[in-house]
Parts: sequence; C-alpha cells; structure tokens
Amino acid sequence: MTANILHITCSARAEESQSTRFSYRIVERLQPAGVTLRDLTWAPLPHVDSAYAHALAGRPPGEHNAPHLDSLARSEQLIAELDAAHAIVIGLPMHNYTIPSCLKAWVDHVLRIGHTFAPSPEGKRGLLRDRPVYIAVASGGFFTGAKANQPDFVTPYLQAALNTMGLRTLHFFALQGLVFGPERVAQAWSEATAALDAVLAPASAAAAIA
Ligand SMILES: Cc1cc2nc3c(=O)[nH]c(=O)nc-3n(C[C@H](O)[C@H](O)[C@H](O)COP(=O)(O)O)c2cc1C
Repeated sequence: MTANILHITCSARAEESQSTRFSYRIVERLQPAGVTLRDLTWAPLPHVDSAYAHALAGRPPGEHNAPHLDSLARSEQLIAELDAAHAIVIGLPMHNYTIPSCLKAWVDHVLRIGHTFAPSPEGKRGLLRDRPVYIAVASGGFFTGAKANQPDFVTPYLQAALNTMGLRTLHFFALQGLVFGPERVAQAWSEATAALDAVLAPASAAAAIA
C-alpha cells in the first residue's frame, strides 16, 4: 500500500527551526512513498473571514457568491489533503503557551461541521478515519515534566481539535528548554529521539503506516 504523509510545518525560524527539523526526522522514520508538505509560514492560509463564516452558516448553495465559493474550495482542498494521508506529521513551535496562529488558521479551515465532524446529543462526532498523528513541539522553556513552569495550551488544544475530527492516535514529542544553550538543545534532541524510538523504531516504521 502506498503510504502518503501530510507534513505540516509552521515555524517562523526557517532553517533554524527545531520543530521543523525534528518533524523531518519523524518523516524519515515513516519512509513514506509520498509527502504533501504544507508550510504554513511561507505559504500562509488566510484567517477566517466573513466569506468563510457566511459560507459555513448553512445558507443554500445558490446564495454563495464567488468569495464564499473560494473559501469553501480552499477548505475542501485542505480536508481532502488530510483525508488522503495515511499519517500526519506536524512540527510546531510553542507561541505564547499555545500553537502558532498560522496553524490555528489551518484548524479553522479543516475543523468543519458536516465535513470533518457532525454534531450529536453526546457532542461533536469525528468523521475522519483515525490514523497516527506525530507532533513535534519546540519551546524555549519547559511546559511538561519536572521542570515545567508555564501553561501548556498546545497539547490539550491540539488533542481536542484533532480528536473532534476523529484523529485519536496522537504522539507528542517535546523539544523543550531550547533557550538554555547548545547542551540543553542536544539533550532535548536525545530525549525527543528516545520518545520517538519508543513509538516508531526505524525498523518497524514502514510497517506502522502500511
Ligand atoms: C512569538 C513567540 C512566542 C513564544 N512563546 C513561547 C512560550 O510561550 N513558551 C516558550 O517556552 N517558548 C516560547 N517561544 C520560544 C519558541 O518556542 C522557541 O524559540 C522554539 O524553539 C520555537 O520553535 P522552532 O525552533 O521550531 O521555531 C516563543 C517564540 C516566539 C517567536
């Protein structure tokens, strides 16, 4: 089976980005036949605007004007990308305790009623089939573990957003304390790599997404 990966990056630090670099390490482990790269920093999506809000408001298709149709087409393309992937890899920096706004814009385009989730009396029900999502989170300080000294709205937010669409097999890898010099950066990499080895050892990587 041909495995296709959706690889999302969203760091503003170009080649210095630790989250992007680690996300490439994850992609290498998965040995995909195909990769769709979504770099949300260098090819940003528009934030939700009135055209998108109008288009989602349940109006009959005949009432949509050209901007509404463009917004819906963009959303549908992004959802199709997500749906075509056998695995998803996300590299993201912590920005002010949460995800970067360019990644939030992506969430707003794909977390869509009637397409990726359906309302029910028990709450929102995911419409996508489950598949593994590997998430590398880079931060200057510490947000998890014994040294954590700041709030973490990255992990619970992404977990809620992805779970809502039906994506429940999530693996988070933290690269933390990156402002504390090269030794700490090296240690963060070895901690994150050990965590990656535990879920995606090199030899079993291809089998994991077959
Ligand atoms: C706008 C902005 C906000 C940030 N907010 C936080 C934060 O809340 N907590 C933290 O630990 N680091 C924060 N940082 C530091 C980044 O998380 C750190 O530089 C990390 O390495 C970024 O990931 P990257 O190397 O993939 O770009 C922030 C950096 C920027 C540019």
